Amino acid sequence: MNPLVPDFTSLRVSVIGDIIADHYLVTQPRSLSREAPVMVLRYKSEDFQAGGAANVARNVRALGAATRLHGCVGRDVRGRELIELLEGFRIDTMGVETIPEWTTPTKTRIVAAEPRRSLQQVLRVDREPARPAAAEIRAKIRERVVSLAQAIDVLLISDYDYGMVDAELGALATELASRGVVVVLDPRSHIAGFEGVTAMTPNVGELARFTGRELDELADIKDISAAAGELLARCPMRWLLVTRGNKGMALFGEGCPERGIAVDASGSGDVTDVTGAGDTAAAVFALALASKLDAPTAMQLANAASGVVVMEHGAAVCTPDQLREASERTPAPVRIA
Ligand SMILES: Nc1ncnc2c1ncn2[C@@H]1O[C@H](COP(=O)(O)OP(=O)(O)OP(=O)(O)O)[C@@H](O)[C@H]1O
Ligand SMILES: [Mg+2]
Repeated sequence: MNPLVPDFTSLRVSVIGDIIADHYLVTQPRSLSREAPVMVLRYKSEDFQAGGAANVARNVRALGAATRLHGCVGRDVRGRELIELLEGFRIDTMGVETIPEWTTPTKTRIVAAEPRRSLQQVLRVDREPARPAAAEIRAKIRERVVSLAQAIDVLLISDYDYGMVDAELGALATELASRGVVVVLDPRSHIAGFEGVTAMTPNVGELARFTGRELDELADIKDISAAAGELLARCPMRWLLVTRGNKGMALFGEGCPERGIAVDASGSGDVTDVTGAGDTAAAVFALALASKLDAPTAMQLANAASGVVVMEHGAAVCTPDQLREASERTPAPVRIA
């Protein structure tokens, strides 16, 4: 049976993590250069989008929940533009600190397209702060989450390795989870200190890293199942949702059969851009759990929503209407044999 999409509008959600500016430079191929063996591209346009934790917040907001973002940006043009962009989406940015002498992490993707063809990514340039935000600033950001914690249903944590996600945040996260807040970590490098959160949503590469494996050792679902079991034994949490790119997702933990359950990727296969699909997955999974759906159904909806955003250029969002439509034709989870 296809799942009904809950009304998310009464949920209050805080997102904390690494805020990133996604910068797209759209170009058209012109010729080969005579200076070096490279292509010459003609500039067409450029735009900025909310990335990292800000994209998670944007996904949550697009589903209708009241959304607050916690984290930091630099006192630079990118940082200012990001805050304006987020406020335009009606995301509460009271929890976003602006730090002097700090660079807002910015990923510039140069994309090129022949007329009437789809965009191809040619190159990515990352602009990064020299170091994470100072410990006092990170503490201040966490304190703001605490001061508002009476009034939240969900805490989503988005790690993009720029320093916001650390063991101190883990302590806060587990404390909130023990008080009944749905706490979901989309991990990148840090899971130590996060034992006891509601769920984590690593991709296969991250699962490999956390369990001391190579990525190619996790091509098979049985091996993912074994790795997931190891991770759950070492780092207790209620659910572990492993995202598998074009292979869908797998779920382990409370109420699941020993080897877990899996779902095939959703959508038509006309994939345009997978950027941010993991952000959408974490957001929808967390909101669905907070709406009291069972975890397999939450996975099914997360998978349906991710299948929607990969069809659009850039880090996209899935609206309730799109999610309702996608959930009508999304595959059902099955027990892993
Ligand atoms: N090529 C694809 N075709 C269909 N669905 C996809 C594809 N890539 C991703 N998805 C959907 O998006 C989900 C999350 O993608 P993925 O596993 O790539 O996360 P991720 O690596 O964390 O992504 P990111 O960090 O870029 O946001 C997948 O579980 C799947 O549901
Ligand atoms: Mg990810």
